[in-house]
Amino acid sequence: MTDSERLARYTSALEFAERQVAHLVEQHPGYFPIYTHEGKWRHEGELWTDWTGGFCAGMMWQFHRRTGDPMWRERAERYSKLLEHRQHDRKVHDLGFIFLNTYLPWYQLTGDAQLHDVLIQAGRTLAMRFQEKGQYLSSFIGPESLFIDIMMNVPIIFYAGLETNDEELLRVAQAHCRTTAHRIVRDDGSTTHEGIFDTQTGEFLRESTHQGKSADSAWARGLAWSLYGYSKCYGLTNDEFYLAISERNAAYWLTHLPPDHVPYWDFRADLSLPPPLGAQKESSAGAIAASGLLDLARQTRSPEAAARYRETALAMLDALTEPEYLAVNTAGWEGILKHGVYHTTKNLGVDESVMWGEFFFVEALTKVVCE
Ligand code: GLY
Repeated sequence: MTDSERLARYTSALEFAERQVAHLVEQHPGYFPIYTHEGKWRHEGELWTDWTGGFCAGMMWQFHRRTGDPMWRERAERYSKLLEHRQHDRKVHDLGFIFLNTYLPWYQLTGDAQLHDVLIQAGRTLAMRFQEKGQYLSSFIGPESLFIDIMMNVPIIFYAGLETNDEELLRVAQAHCRTTAHRIVRDDGSTTHEGIFDTQTGEFLRESTHQGKSADSAWARGLAWSLYGYSKCYGLTNDEFYLAISERNAAYWLTHLPPDHVPYWDFRADLSLPPPLGAQKESSAGAIAASGLLDLARQTRSPEAAARYRETALAMLDALTEPEYLAVNTAGWEGILKHGVYHTTKNLGVDESVMWGEFFFVEALTKVVCE
């Protein structure tokens, strides 16, 4: 594919994405879905945890960034505003997901101090999850639990700390990143989903998982969260330690990605078994990793690694823009990307569209189209 063919293909996929999100806004105003059921966004399925509002609103900001269309800005502001109260939400560890994709682009566009205040408060609220004994931010599960997913949220604490010169916020964010790296990122660059700690002593007890195949497996989305999260932390702090962890994750990703460039839900799934426990694709992990690798390609010191990261990101996006994954030819399907997975063991959103897959797919394509 030539560069101009790729740009045309990605632009067309983004236009399809715009139509799907516009349809969601018109059909279900003010509704923040998490995953589809048989391709439909509105259903009674369990949320597990309420963490994805920033992705729906975030796509609207991405559409505005590319098109400059005032309609997308109006929708982006309206949907972002609906999330403002979450700046005080102490029940989730997802305040980076919610605010970095909404209030940050809004603030960057306007310089409005009230928007900045919301970002700072969200960073401070997330920092309250810090467990001094174990030196990590705890997941929504409880004080004993550290999730790899939090690596994508800790950047809002760095952001708040840097913007306000708050050494305490920076200490918490740095400690979390180091504990995560030492406890749940493995030497080969793979990751486990969760670390369990003794809350009395802070001692690390064991690896664990909720959404991966097993504690000692390599849940694909968790690895993508780590790769992209450490890259984001490096972008904010210039701390080489974070760049090294992200590159270690990328090395695992690149050497284990299947030949068709779309990951299975777990890199250690038994592919002789049928879906959902065996050969189940997970498009959202591919979209997250593609967006992260595009950034990492600009950050790495190695020109060879930069070329490999970018080529892999584009190969993944090429695969995801095929009709096998892009729902463009699937009549009645309300999502953008098919074949995502939310929670296999709970049977939530398995082989469906998932809101973070939609967002990171749109974000990655927009990076390529707008660069
Ligand atoms: N728990 C966040 C995720 O599903 O990736």
